[in-house]
Amino acid sequence: MKKKAVTAIVIGAGDRGADVYANYALRFPDEMKVVAVAEPIEERRNLVKVKHNLKEDRCFSSWEKILAEQKLADLAIVATQDQMHAEPAILAMRKGYDVLLEKPMANTIDDCKELVEVSKETGKLLQICHVLRYAPYFSQLKSVIESGRIGDIVNISWRENVSYWHYSHSYIRGNWHNRDESSPMILAKSCHDMDLLFWLIRSPTKKIHSFGNQTHFGRFNQPEGAPDRCLDGCPVSESCLYYAPRLYLDLVPLIHMHKKAGSISEKLFSSLVLRYPNLTQIPPFKKVKEYTGWPISVISKDLSYEGRIKALQETNYGKCVYAIDDHNIVDHQIVNIEFDNKVTASFTMHGFSDEEGRSFRIDGTKGTIKGDYFFSKQIISIIDVLTGKEEQIGTEKIDMAHGGGDDVIMKVFLKSVRFREKEDILTTASNALESHLMAFAADISRVEERIVEMKELR
Ligand SMILES: NC(=O)c1ccc[n+]([C@@H]2O[C@H](COP(=O)([O-])OP(=O)(O)OC[C@H]3O[C@@H](n4cnc5c(N)ncnc54)[C@H](O)[C@@H]3O)[C@@H](O)[C@H]2O)c1
Repeated sequence: MKKKAVTAIVIGAGDRGADVYANYALRFPDEMKVVAVAEPIEERRNLVKVKHNLKEDRCFSSWEKILAEQKLADLAIVATQDQMHAEPAILAMRKGYDVLLEKPMANTIDDCKELVEVSKETGKLLQICHVLRYAPYFSQLKSVIESGRIGDIVNISWRENVSYWHYSHSYIRGNWHNRDESSPMILAKSCHDMDLLFWLIRSPTKKIHSFGNQTHFGRFNQPEGAPDRCLDGCPVSESCLYYAPRLYLDLVPLIHMHKKAGSISEKLFSSLVLRYPNLTQIPPFKKVKEYTGWPISVISKDLSYEGRIKALQETNYGKCVYAIDDHNIVDHQIVNIEFDNKVTASFTMHGFSDEEGRSFRIDGTKGTIKGDYFFSKQIISIIDVLTGKEEQIGTEKIDMAHGGGDDVIMKVFLKSVRFREKEDILTTASNALESHLMAFAADISRVEERIVEMKELR
């Protein structure tokens, strides 16, 4: 007999809560139904209300209010900002909800540990959104390693190349620009990479050493004569990578990305640079120019041209990147890791890449894997040392967020909620604790300038 869709409440109806997870219910109504929402911003709350056909008394202005009610659904999606994860997730589990919790699971070590404890104590599922483990690209990489083709892993060299426009959007102008109000970069962004290393190496960590700095962004680099807002007559608007209209009105970085991926031809691309107002009439540009998804969607609820101009005049998204005085996030960081099984890994994050993506080299006792995981190419190369042969696996190119991982994590979680099967869940809270401890250790090491033994944090 066909089972009814599982029911969900959404706590935090922002980019992730509403646009990714709640939207899944609209695309797969047989799997999930959203029955209530908690969100303080009225427009966002109303949008969920309308899309999911909710009654007024199922729309709440905060997590405290929705969780003061009787249990309203099978599961709770907690997608509030980083500093507001542990409390609602813990209360939701105590109320009887299974919980899908955004990463980072919490921004203190104690809260992370408490989440694991409460999940065990209540028997509730607590899935942390380390979505990359579910992306087909990384599943394939994991299978190659598990097949033994490269023998035992000895060392991994891993890079997270954050694009210059993603870095400026989220970590200078956006919600994550101040570590005291959100979380350090290594936790906010690179906990995914810590998680992938832990997953691939299959060993807890022994010790960690890290360096990193914020070198480029600050008043000391503000161009001469540049106003604090890009639209107030910036003299370097043509040459500044970070001129806000370049991203939020002209979408130049996104068009570059499509050109590199081959979805816009060289010939058409060359005409773009001149910023034709009628570019939107040419089909390949039309598609890109009309794009109002992430990161454009974040700057305002009114995504018309006028709405976007207003956002650039009033919000941080229109500020000169060199004039955001409370920005304190590293723009590059390296981490050296020794695992309990004696494997070593080095990790580099930087925020200046032309294209967003990860690249890595994994050396084993019999072979090497080299990988590129970018929008324009997703390749895994396997080199057999004995024969010298190289095989390239071109994984399916998926434009969707997180290489398809967002959808798969939902599918797996909903199945587990429905059938109480935990086997497919790759990122339970107890599993995700390691990546978070690694990130905390790297942050402590960087700030205190010392090697951190993981036993200090366990
Ligand atoms: N898994 C991933 O790869 C991934 C990717 C992006 C973001 N994230 C994480 O997802 C989380 C949400 O990010 P986002 O981009 O959607 O942020 P967002 O700011 O768009 O959404 C958060 C929402 O929570 C709401 N909120 C604030 N106070 C609240 C309260 N008391 N009760 C209920 N809701 C409240 C805000 O109004 C906002 O709408 C962050 O922790 C972020 O780090 C994870």
